[in-house]
Amino acid sequence: MTKIKIAPSILSADFGVLRDQVARLEAGGADYIHIDVMDGVFVPNISIGIPIVEAVRKITTLPLDVHLMITRPENLISGFIQAGADLVTIHVESTPNLHRALSAIRQSGKKAGLALNPGTPVLLAGELLGEVDLVLVMTVNPGFGGQSFLPFTLEKVKKIREMIDRSPARPELEVDGGIKLDNVQLLGQAGADVIVSGSGIMSKADYGPVISELRTRAEKARSAR
Ligand code: DX5
Ligand code: ZN
Repeated sequence: MTKIKIAPSILSADFGVLRDQVARLEAGGADYIHIDVMDGVFVPNISIGIPIVEAVRKITTLPLDVHLMITRPENLISGFIQAGADLVTIHVESTPNLHRALSAIRQSGKKAGLALNPGTPVLLAGELLGEVDLVLVMTVNPGFGGQSFLPFTLEKVKKIREMIDRSPARPELEVDGGIKLDNVQLLGQAGADVIVSGSGIMSKADYGPVISELRTRAEKARSAR
């Protein structure tokens, strides 16, 4: 059975007790901690910046999956890497210098991810599949936690799965936005390797059971493809 990773997004955390919440996500079996960075320009919201990434780095040994929803990410990549990011994901729509920015991440010895908004055609990722460690397909419009999953994005996940399977490089396929227990099997079936879930996990009193159940449902659907 293909192992699927679960990456809880701390966008829905209670930041007053972030240390406790991250510890509970780690104890609950999270594979990555997904950190959503927003600049109020690329998306209509401001969230987490470098100091929070630094703080999270000190309280967990899990890989930090930093999702940059910011314009011209190349200006800030080194700051997020110094703060402790293990994987830095930038958006296809965020800079004309995509390859240069992705190379800068890899040259720092970290993993590079490429994200696509729901309305962005999968072809825009095509040439770069060999240059990245992860492709992130947004399943909501970025900017806010707790939005509803957009069903039309499933076809994109399937298309990217096929593109990755045909490519000699095998970046992980991550999906992000509106994913919960009641729809996670659709993403497993479409071929996702990494499931981001914010409100679907953090709204529960106990994180361990929901993390395991998300993984089990996704893995079952993935195996039945
Ligand atoms: C959206 C973020 C997502 C989001 C996930 O802009 O990139 O990571 O926080 O949260 P839920 O699972 O609540 O949609
Ligand atoms: Zn995200």
